[in-house]
Amino acid sequence: MGIVAASHAGAIEQAAQLLAERGLVAVPTETVYGLAARADDDAAVAQIFATKGRPADHPLIVHVLGRDEALSFAAGLSDAAERLIAAFWPGPVTVIVRRSPGRANAAAAGLPTLALRSPRHPVARALLARCAQQGIAGLAAPSANRFGHVSPTTAAHVSDEFGPALMVLDGGACELGIESAIVDCSGVAPVLLRPGVVTREQLEQALAVSLRGPDEHSPPAPGTLESHYAPHATLRLMSSHEMQEALQVLPATIEGLAVYSRTAPRRHPLVQVMPDDAQAVARELFAVLRAFDARGVKLIWVERPPDTPDWEGVNDRLQRAAAH
Ligand code: TXA
Ligand code: MG
Repeated sequence: MGIVAASHAGAIEQAAQLLAERGLVAVPTETVYGLAARADDDAAVAQIFATKGRPADHPLIVHVLGRDEALSFAAGLSDAAERLIAAFWPGPVTVIVRRSPGRANAAAAGLPTLALRSPRHPVARALLARCAQQGIAGLAAPSANRFGHVSPTTAAHVSDEFGPALMVLDGGACELGIESAIVDCSGVAPVLLRPGVVTREQLEQALAVSLRGPDEHSPPAPGTLESHYAPHATLRLMSSHEMQEALQVLPATIEGLAVYSRTAPRRHPLVQVMPDDAQAVARELFAVLRAFDARGVKLIWVERPPDTPDWEGVNDRLQRAAAH
């Protein structure tokens, strides 16, 4: 099957058919590509876990067209969930809500809560709409990578992960490049479990309250495990100063080493200049790490971006990649 252009006549129909028959399809979203199965079928969802090598107790996000479909999975929506849905759906914000008992058991990994997101990518929406016509209200879809590895932002990345048997709907390179912000709206106060491209300030403005960070009362969010989103090479985060000093003493040939730096002066295929803009880095980050891996480098030096709110999502991913 392999990569199929989403614009190709019949591609969405074929993908919807496969999903209805309990198969898996990789789907583009505005954040990263997802590995989708119908959320209402535990056997179909079990294949996602098997394919990714993901432990069964790590819950998945269920993707829906909008609030109406979300309500079919949720045991009501809290005020925080309603506010985020109104402000950011469709878009890169996932809300965790209390789950309607018996709905999406496998996707929720048995938890009493469920993560819901309405993607805005036109291909994901077309597929969700076609599935909804067949009575399938949601698609469980984690990022389409092997467990712990870097998320895919192109159809080719997905094929590199899982081989040619998987149907990958090609919708081009993802516009945002890092995964959605996740806000737990199931408790008394909203908690930011994973930062994304939508900033903490924007989320708080919509919520009209401050976000708490995860604490011991927060639900387990294994994607927030320290080591995650990691390339195969060892990634080392360095301050601008450290980077400057290290680059001065670089040997002429930098066998096995790649550099991703805002101030990299050298012209070398394994030195990549990091853009100044956080959204531009988010868009290219996972592709840059994968390209370094493909060249077989053993070590990646990355210059630590500024510690300002617009960089929170990128800094989070870099820290986890470095914790590998
Ligand atoms: O942008 C995205 O969110 C992408 C695209 C495909 O939509 N999806 C994605 O899914 O990043 P995944 O499975 O790679 O990450 C979802 C995270 C995981 O860390 C999981 O542990 C957490 O969401 N999660 C899911 N359900 C949860 C729940 N009920 N409680 C706490 N955390 C949950
Ligand atoms: Mg993931």
